[in-house]
Amino acid sequence: MGGDSILIRNARLVLPEGILEDVDILVEDGKVTRIGRELEPPRGVDVLNVEGKLVLPGVVDEHVHMREPGLEYKDNFTNGTMDAASGGVTTVLEMPNTLPPVENRKVLLEKAHLLASKAYVDFALYGVIHDGNIDEFEEMVYAGAIGFKIFLGPTTGNIPAPSDATIYEALLKSAKLKTPIAFHAENWSLVKYFTEKVKATGRMDPKAHMDARPPICEEEATIRIAYYAKKTRGIALIVHMSALEAVEALRKARSEGVNIWGETNPHYLLLSSDDYDKYGTLMKVNPPIRSREHQEALWKAVLDGTITNIGSDHAPHAREEKEKNVWEAAAGFPGVRTLLPLMIDQALRGKIPLTKIPELLSANPAKLFNLYPKKGTITIGSDGDMVVVDPRSETIIREEDFHSKHPLSPFIGWRLKGRIEYTILRGAIIARNGEVTGGPRGQWIRYTPKTS
Ligand code: DOR
Ligand code: ZN
Repeated sequence: MGGDSILIRNARLVLPEGILEDVDILVEDGKVTRIGRELEPPRGVDVLNVEGKLVLPGVVDEHVHMREPGLEYKDNFTNGTMDAASGGVTTVLEMPNTLPPVENRKVLLEKAHLLASKAYVDFALYGVIHDGNIDEFEEMVYAGAIGFKIFLGPTTGNIPAPSDATIYEALLKSAKLKTPIAFHAENWSLVKYFTEKVKATGRMDPKAHMDARPPICEEEATIRIAYYAKKTRGIALIVHMSALEAVEALRKARSEGVNIWGETNPHYLLLSSDDYDKYGTLMKVNPPIRSREHQEALWKAVLDGTITNIGSDHAPHAREEKEKNVWEAAAGFPGVRTLLPLMIDQALRGKIPLTKIPELLSANPAKLFNLYPKKGTITIGSDGDMVVVDPRSETIIREEDFHSKHPLSPFIGWRLKGRIEYTILRGAIIARNGEVTGGPRGQWIRYTPKTS
């Protein structure tokens, strides 16, 4: 355990609660020990003067698919976590649709063991719940699962959607162990129905995928999950929200006090159906990127606190899989490298307050997954996970900056305001100007459940 020591001087510290001007942050042995003015470095501790720069908590990306084990032809954990480090992400929550799926304690522990030697940032692991493994729930939690994923709609891995009874029971267990469940909220049978209908028209344009998974698929699934979360008092996260109607359902449920959280991703905020002609299947993702009307509703929800979290849904695929026709192309693209730069750019352009960035990308994911305040903030006792951003510089997203095996992102070529200068993990600089420094020092983080 342990960690490094560093004194950050003259930071503009950006936290959800506000911006602290001109502060020093001392990290000793990996933990934040002092925040103040004109701190003196203990002997042997390096000083990093960041005058004029922003310091934010390291990003907790609650939604990544790094493909290892079993799908390394798409990408691997080494590359994925190197991209995380370059992009200001210091903790990743890794999804369970790898091979074999993370459906029991043994697979979870094997995955953790395998990834531990490769991690450039700290990581936690999801398990998956389907009709065949609800009895494994507790064992996976005690083995260290940070939460669970339930796929209601078809996507990479095609893990079948569970019955309502399994969903209900999983949420009951979630309430008991305080373990959140992330839902891919699309109704499988509706997706199938609309896909067959759109396919039958012979359409092959990239927007056909959007029409094959209309908002009702997401709306129905969100309403259903909100209903079961209300009845069971379980903790639900609706991931990758893309549809106005689903956001409305989330808003209603939250106003009724349901323990339900909502995530969206930069691609739903920054791309719309107007972009399919330009990017084609490169921007194919599940659920699909929709019209500007949906995009605007998502922004509104982000600003009013209905959408609580922003993750990347980092989902790399091989080039051959992406460069296919609209029906056969794989859904998803790498995003962990671009998550923070894209959102910082939006803040520096005035689209969103700067203080919302650490709230949505760091504090709320850490709170939801019981990692706060160890992760997700900068306070006395937190891990010294930080990002230093130069707001006066700029970033051009270039293909060669990705460590990913297949750097196929619609954001390549985008010119952004702001530049990540340093990523710091438990007091150690792990990336400087996008270059990863040092070896894989990431640790597996498990949640120890409260049983009361
Ligand atoms: O587009 C997607 N890709 N959506 C998902 O939900 C899963 C992901 C993947 O694993 O490829
Ligand atoms: Zn995903």
